[in-house]
Amino acid sequence: MRAVTITDEILSVQDRATPLPESGCVLVAVAGAGLNGADIMQRRGLYPAPPGWPVDVPGLEFAGTIEALGPDVEGFRVGDRVMGIVGGGAQASHVTTDATTLLRVPDSLDLVVAGGFPEAFTTAFDAIVNQGFLLPGERLLVTGAAGGVGTAAIQIGRLLGADVTASVRDLSRRDELVALGANRVVNPDDVKDAGPYDVVVELVGAASLTNGVLAALNEFARVVVIGVGGGTKAEVNLLGMMAGRITLTGSTLRARSREEKAGIAAAMKQVLLPALAEGTLSVPVLARYSLDTVNEAYERFSAGSKLGKIILEV
Ligand SMILES: NC(=O)c1ccc[n+]([C@@H]2O[C@H](COP(=O)([O-])OP(=O)(O)OC[C@H]3O[C@@H](n4cnc5c(N)ncnc54)[C@H](OP(=O)(O)O)[C@@H]3O)[C@@H](O)[C@H]2O)c1
Repeated sequence: MRAVTITDEILSVQDRATPLPESGCVLVAVAGAGLNGADIMQRRGLYPAPPGWPVDVPGLEFAGTIEALGPDVEGFRVGDRVMGIVGGGAQASHVTTDATTLLRVPDSLDLVVAGGFPEAFTTAFDAIVNQGFLLPGERLLVTGAAGGVGTAAIQIGRLLGADVTASVRDLSRRDELVALGANRVVNPDDVKDAGPYDVVVELVGAASLTNGVLAALNEFARVVVIGVGGGTKAEVNLLGMMAGRITLTGSTLRARSREEKAGIAAAMKQVLLPALAEGTLSVPVLARYSLDTVNEAYERFSAGSKLGKIILEV
């Protein structure tokens, strides 16, 4: 197989032995693999793959076609169109993964574009539903809302009946974010005035939390920290949290157990896949790059100012 490979922070495409699927696993011929911030950090040596996953092949998400089944796989056949999250190794022509964590790609969705769905939508779904306990009619704030996870979170919030506020630095994105489901789009400096919020998907981190978010919460609000590109340390008024019965929590997806990932996938199958199939949910794609132009893809991701996903076409 061909695999994007990191050697001393240099990216290249190398030939590797195609892995054989173990018990309960499938071998997928990858069509599309989305880029994520974790890949950029892994390349810089700051975010190593968790145990059991390739140490030098990046990639947390893929979509493709099942090429072979390992022993004891139920419910899938060779040729099925599937997508999923992995702990690493997705930016390659082939990947093996546990069948219980797979989602089927709807017929209506391009298989390459589907490669940008799993990581962002799983992260956003888990944050909003499993950590944020969002209820219909509640007010959801998504910060850093124009990126992959943000655009997924806006759409999931709308799907679940929330009033959605999107916070972005570049307000020229307003129309696109409203089309995805945002009720309003605000600059980070106006987050407080547009509140209060019941659930916050915090994709920026400390700078955002202290710039209005923590001062704009309803009683019993749930703040879920997912990204910390804007800083890891924030001063928090604990008395205010006590008075408001606020929950401040955080989450990472990559190192979760197979069982946890399978549980989230099962819930997404019920809640998100029908909406994806009928087009209520979509994967906004900024750009597609071939495997051979992987360096350009990483450069474009790192440059920022993007709406939606960057996807490697394998
Ligand atoms: N915890 C997890 O399991 C998990 C999973 C996936 C992703 N993440 C993290 O979640 C974050 C979002 O992921 P993503 O895939 O959506 O990334 P992305 O596509 O790069 O989007 C990031 C967004 O955040 C904005 N942003 C970055 N720094 C900012 C700052 N200091 N102030 C205001 N806005 C800022 C960017 O705006 P501009 O366009 O203006 O730069 C961009 O719209 C990343 O930090 C990523 O590492 C965590």
